Amino acid sequence: MSKYLPLWPDQASTMASQVDLLYIYLLLVAGVMTALIFLAVTVLAIKYRRRPGVAAHQIEGSTILELGWSIIPFFVMLTFFIWGAVIFFQERTPPADATEVYVVAKQWMWKIEHIEGQHEINELHVPTGQNIKLIMTSQDVIHSFYIPAFRLKQDVLPGRYTTLWFKATVPGRYHLFCAEYCGTMHSGMGGDIVVMKPEDYALWMAGGSSTPLAENGRALFSSLGCSTCHRSDVKGRGPDLAGIYDKPVQLDDGRTVIADDNYVRESILDPTAKIVSGFKPVMPAFQGIVTDEQLNALVAYVKSLSQPAQGSAALQNAPATSPGQPEVQ
Ligand code: CUA
Repeated sequence: MSKYLPLWPDQASTMASQVDLLYIYLLLVAGVMTALIFLAVTVLAIKYRRRPGVAAHQIEGSTILELGWSIIPFFVMLTFFIWGAVIFFQERTPPADATEVYVVAKQWMWKIEHIEGQHEINELHVPTGQNIKLIMTSQDVIHSFYIPAFRLKQDVLPGRYTTLWFKATVPGRYHLFCAEYCGTMHSGMGGDIVVMKPEDYALWMAGGSSTPLAENGRALFSSLGCSTCHRSDVKGRGPDLAGIYDKPVQLDDGRTVIADDNYVRESILDPTAKIVSGFKPVMPAFQGIVTDEQLNALVAYVKSLSQPAQGSAALQNAPATSPGQPEVQ
């Protein structure tokens, strides 16, 4: 599209053409509606103009006509909403097989952590044809992760995770913007998304040895003393964490919540916020003690206890993982 009409940025993800099609449709419908109104105004102004010798007479209106020009455009406009909602839900729902990448924003840079252990600043390398899920948080203020060539934008907030997913289609270097005013250097808070062919990406990944994120998390888990209470045997003072990720957890106030990224994060920073049924609120809070990067490593570790099949991040040190989980890949 951008080849013929340089009004659009490159299309480099599976979402890009869908978003563009909807946008073109919006422009067309808006154009047709505008033309119809202008045409009607012009034709009626000429037809019913004041003429000498012709007496004006009152026209009483038409219910059918009024209903028609209200109801028909209503349904036409509703197509914007339906089409937009379909794309929105696609963009909001990461595929289960997506490779996870952690993003930490701060004034004024983007820090990227691959679960394989690679770290990047203001650059994100991804392969074509693979679903990538970004798990993002901010160390300070609200930022926004914006890749025009992917037609994607997501706010990045302090104190919680937000996610974004995409499948890149065309190798190349695409600009990454911060799209939320975040201080003096906001306009300089950018970077590049480097999309590579899978074989080039594998080479890039292999270069430079790094400790997988979940491995770092496991080291932290024992150095912070978590492993003394979160044990798989029955005497554990905290719940056994093997197999809990993304599963329902029964709380002592009767609620049931899903142990997703934000739940694990909150349970580390503020353990008394949601007490697991059958346990006492004895865990110390880690708010202000662990950094966002350490938190990501801990979350990746807890996750790895439930995802035996997810790439090199799988760290099997617990015997009981969820038995019913299908193998990914
Ligand atoms: Cu970060 Cu604007």
